[in-house]
Amino acid sequence: MHIKTFQGGFDKNLTYLIWCSSTQIAALVDASVESTAIVEYIDSQGLVLEKILITHTHFDHIKYLEDLKYQFPQVQICGHPHPEEQLAKNYRPLNHREIIPIGTEMFTSIHTPGHYPDSLCFWNKKEEVIFTGDTMFVGRSGRTVSSKSNISHLYNSIYTELLPLPEETKIYPGHHYGYTPSVTLKENKTLSPFFQCQTEEEFIQVMEEFEKNRRIT
Ligand SMILES: [Fe+2]
Repeated sequence: MHIKTFQGGFDKNLTYLIWCSSTQIAALVDASVESTAIVEYIDSQGLVLEKILITHTHFDHIKYLEDLKYQFPQVQICGHPHPEEQLAKNYRPLNHREIIPIGTEMFTSIHTPGHYPDSLCFWNKKEEVIFTGDTMFVGRSGRTVSSKSNISHLYNSIYTELLPLPEETKIYPGHHYGYTPSVTLKENKTLSPFFQCQTEEEFIQVMEEFEKNRRIT
């Protein structure tokens, strides 16, 4: 499997182009980066864009979806069964732990509410990669400051769904907010207090501390 990263959009957003080496069938994770370079790249590699996987419907992650749907009218949009925004007629709702094939590559959708109710992560067990959207960044979790956020849900998503995955799994987040775009779960646990909590209360404290310091700086 190949992964090509595009950075841009609203705030260091990351859109990923992934494709199966044997079939050239491709998918995008999010539509958060200007589409021109992405479309050119897809054409230059002779890829067939079959799906766009949406990690959540915050505006910055779907900003270029209309452009992409126009360029690729057959593309299927995949996301949460109850998205906060209606995304497309050709929409595939993904249940928790549903398998999504991209050519011969198999992804599992994992529901991870908290940052936003319709948040999903996409995990490829064989390749040991997971696309985490705004649920987990390098060095910290997503914020829970929007009106539909829920810190308890985020704690559960991180501590019961993501951190128990194999520790060599590499995360590919929705924004480039860390010292490097991508790390393993093991590295993230080692480097960040967000991922070292024993209880939900401790996690809430770490999040509050982060927000307090953020307001000062
Ligand atoms: Fe977000």
